[in-house]
Amino acid sequence: MKPEAMEMHAMKTRSAATQSPTKSGPMKKPMKKPMKKPTMKQVMKAAVLAALAGAYGMAAAQALTPPMGWNPWNAFHTEVDEAKIMANAAALKNTGLADAGYRYVNMDDGWWRTRRADGRIEVRTSMFPSGALPDGSTSMRPFVDNLHALGFKAGIYSEIGRNACSQAWDRHSPNLPEGSQVEREIGTFGHQAQDIKLLVGEYGFDYVKVDACGLADYTPDKAWVRDGTHRAFGPWIVRGKPDAASSARVEELYADLRKEIDTVRPNGDVVLSICAWGEARVNNWGGKYGQSWRTSPDITPDWKSMLLNFDSAIGRPLFAGPGRWNDPDMLELGHGEFDERHLVEARAHLSLWAIAAAPLMIGADLTKMPQSLIDIAGNRAVIAIDQDPAGHQGVTIARTGDTQVVVRTLAASGQKAVALINRGGQKRRVSVPLATLQLATNATTRDAWTGKESTVDRMITVDLAPRETALLTVRGAALRPGRVYVSEVPARVRVLEDGSAVLTTAQAAKWVPVQANAAPSGKPLTLEGRAVAEGLGVLAGSRVALRLDGEFRRFQSRTGALARGGALTYKLVADGKVLFEQTSAKPVAIDVDVAGVKTLELVTQGPAGKLAEVAWAGAELVQ
Ligand code: GLA
Repeated sequence: MKPEAMEMHAMKTRSAATQSPTKSGPMKKPMKKPMKKPTMKQVMKAAVLAALAGAYGMAAAQALTPPMGWNPWNAFHTEVDEAKIMANAAALKNTGLADAGYRYVNMDDGWWRTRRADGRIEVRTSMFPSGALPDGSTSMRPFVDNLHALGFKAGIYSEIGRNACSQAWDRHSPNLPEGSQVEREIGTFGHQAQDIKLLVGEYGFDYVKVDACGLADYTPDKAWVRDGTHRAFGPWIVRGKPDAASSARVEELYADLRKEIDTVRPNGDVVLSICAWGEARVNNWGGKYGQSWRTSPDITPDWKSMLLNFDSAIGRPLFAGPGRWNDPDMLELGHGEFDERHLVEARAHLSLWAIAAAPLMIGADLTKMPQSLIDIAGNRAVIAIDQDPAGHQGVTIARTGDTQVVVRTLAASGQKAVALINRGGQKRRVSVPLATLQLATNATTRDAWTGKESTVDRMITVDLAPRETALLTVRGAALRPGRVYVSEVPARVRVLEDGSAVLTTAQAAKWVPVQANAAPSGKPLTLEGRAVAEGLGVLAGSRVALRLDGEFRRFQSRTGALARGGALTYKLVADGKVLFEQTSAKPVAIDVDVAGVKTLELVTQGPAGKLAEVAWAGAELVQ
């Protein structure tokens, strides 16, 4: 998507939903800040944080499958209260949705009244009456205790800057922070340790969503800054322009919050949900600190927005895995084009989130949700795909016009989930050969929505109504027994360095630095001019770790640059030891023994600052 398009969408989204003020005049050019070289302390800090948040470390102990739950934002915005939330918690139980896996009950923007002189945030007790304690102080602890007593996990909302989104975009809300300019600064900026101690330590929340409007929407030109009610800030994020401000500084703030969370709750069971809407290159680094990170602007209850958000996540399979999920935003089931008059679209929406291994956060008022939609949200077969324990996100294997096929490798041997998607308004027939799913002839399919089982010889074919998605699980024998392409098992991939520093701003907004079955630019993978169906597309300067866990004997790949150029170096590092190294201007054939290896790093090196797209063609693991 064009950055402009993304920005427009973000603006439209907020204004449509909230009648927020519209942008007047062109976006102000941000001041250029020279990039400073990191100090030794910063480098050390980054290394410690990376280790803490690493795939092989403790942070992966939570959200091993995508978080599921309920959030009031899409239904109520800030006009929600404790009674409505508890009524929805009760509805989760009564409808069976809690048993189906929806276990987080979250609060979003609006719970805070003011920041006191000592820095402590006061709760809006008109909204959370249980938070008015007998001694006159306030707390969210009783609310959290009530949710825990019902067997739920409890989630809360905060902000990485000084001020929240509602203060900029929901100015009509009766529930905005009150007081002087500094008393209204309820965001964590400058209060990281204190706020996390309060939210996670004292209140006991298990899930913290941290938004980023405070870094983006408080420039001096804004009406809500000019009127003196809010302090000017940055911007550190300019929507759609990854480098107009400092992505590195944004990353550092989220890294800090992770550190504070892990200090307060060292067992690592708190979910950090990063809400920077795909900005500041968060899609490349979100997984180091967060269990999920938003990949796109806010969803709105229409087909176009749902697809836009789906695309932002499904295009990045190699960044997701257990404990780190691409987040295309909360569900719009029950609203607009996903209400009870649009069950085809509602089923498609959930199917797409499931194939994307996306968090499933219901955003509707369940006390008014028709049974038809409860049944959709609670479909066990669909949820099982979303929650598959292997955590491999779906990979798009075909896209023609309005149709798309996405395949997800499931934990059970010989099983795949496949979504056959009709994005458009005409009926379509969609087919996919079993061989493309890496399955041999004669397989069984099961439709996750109808439960219907079919046997398939060599080709799956479905007829789809406009906007329909068929979601199937497919059981069969492996096409190439004992062999798996790396691009089939994205959760085994961990991007340690993405090499994206060389990308221009325009490229950085669109490219995916490490990609399955395509080049980072989105072009098809090729080697010496010939198309390659399976493989990883990376940039020179990248380091990509594969989790082998001692399960494979050999790693094989043909590796080379997409375009002719100077020599590049290809290196394999097995549990810290160099196993293979070759410098060549031509593709190199790699076939190495990896018996017993736990982690294999694929290292691609080129001259500093030079852009080169590289194919690890047919990269595969052999048992
Ligand atoms: C941002 C987020 C939304 C919601 C609102 C609250 O727009 O992206 O999900 O939390 O803020 O103001």
